[in-house]
Amino acid sequence: MPNPPFIVGNWKMHGLSEAVSVAEEIARESRKSTARLAICPPATLLSRLSEALKDAPHIELGGQDCHYEAQGAFTGDISATMLKDAGAGLVLLGHSERRHGHKEPCSQVALKVKAALKAGLEPMICIGETLSERESGRTHEVLRRQLRDSLPAELEGQRFHVSYEPVWAIGTGLIATDDQIRDAFALIGKVLDKRFQGHVVPHLLYGGSVKPDNAQHLLSLEGVGGLLVGGASLKAPDFLSIIRSADQA
Ligand code: 13P
Repeated sequence: MPNPPFIVGNWKMHGLSEAVSVAEEIARESRKSTARLAICPPATLLSRLSEALKDAPHIELGGQDCHYEAQGAFTGDISATMLKDAGAGLVLLGHSERRHGHKEPCSQVALKVKAALKAGLEPMICIGETLSERESGRTHEVLRRQLRDSLPAELEGQRFHVSYEPVWAIGTGLIATDDQIRDAFALIGKVLDKRFQGHVVPHLLYGGSVKPDNAQHLLSLEGVGGLLVGGASLKAPDFLSIIRSADQA
């Protein structure tokens, strides 16, 4: 049986108390979905959502980043253990807004992946090229390097996911072409297969301007096993429409 599509909402730095009711609506209206579903709210809402969704186990919760240490003098940081304690089952790592906005190198992403595994969280590692890297013909080189250096050997035999998010497609309304997506997924699949010798079949997700009107098509592309949704996951009707696309994919 192939894995059902994995639809993940990344709320980024959005969401105050009122957002709990958005998650409740998503949970209520997606009970019959056959897709795997998760929401990654800001860390301040994790415990609240965990409590609010305790009767909705079909919605998993995730963190958006973590520190690579379990605890310590790291003001403002959150550890994987803390995310787990607050109700998360997975964590996004190496998102481009961390890699570029916070200058996180691959080596740090790899340490965070190890910390996530140790805490019992499923890591979802994000990779993707910038526009200038694509335009200078370096997409493959960048993806290969990010996969090599952000994925530690400890992932062997573990459950994890990789999300391909072209940086230029995030929050811009631009979407990679079918050929660009097929090409990137083929490369990622090949690199992972070689590296982990077919032992694990992680979900490979696409992210970057996923909307209700393109979700079904994206999920129909070879290798695309799920979607990482930013802006469109903040509104229950839009996210629910994407979830319905997954049910029809
Ligand atoms: P948008 O869907 O808003 O483009 O964001 C994508 C993303 O970064 C998800 O992690």
